[in-house]
Amino acid sequence: MRILVALDGSQGSRRALRFALKLAKDSGYSVSFIHVVPKLPTTKEELIRLIKEEIGSPQEAGERYLEEAKKIAEEEGVRVQEVILREGNPVEEILKAEKEYDLVVVGSRGMGRVDRLLLGSVSSKLVVASTKPVLVVR
Ligand SMILES: Nc1ncnc2c1ncn2[C@@H]1O[C@H](COP(=O)(O)OP(=O)(O)O)[C@@H](O)[C@H]1O
Ligand SMILES: [Mg+2]
Repeated sequence: MRILVALDGSQGSRRALRFALKLAKDSGYSVSFIHVVPKLPTTKEELIRLIKEEIGSPQEAGERYLEEAKKIAEEEGVRVQEVILREGNPVEEILKAEKEYDLVVVGSRGMGRVDRLLLGSVSSKLVVASTKPVLVVR
């Protein structure tokens, strides 16, 4: 089973990571990670968060999210198969990358701050458009 975990640096995606690692650990699977650096300007909230964290550029932030996830996976004794950093539209890039995988794991929420939404825009679009099983971690 090839598991692809989508990461955006949010608490939601951290929960998705934790769940995917548990799943992988219990079954002896490896995991892969993807982060997509949005090409279009991100939302105001996301930009403010990047600046607050003194991360530099969205590209560097993405590298950091992936590095963090790799470190946590190693600590948990889970093998990381592939680490994917893309630029573009997150939904489109995840849909392309998922072709090589059996299961996609996402958080229910991301970095956006529309609190009334129960499901983020990326995760809800993936649930509709994906041809693979999508696990939405709450
Ligand atoms: N740029 C991205 N790259 C990879 N995964 C992403 C990206 N944006 C969102 N995701 C995935 O989708 C989940 C939900 O985020 P999203 O739908 O963007 O919610 P929100 O609308 O709250 O930002 C995240 O927890 C993460 O798993
Ligand atoms: Mg988002």
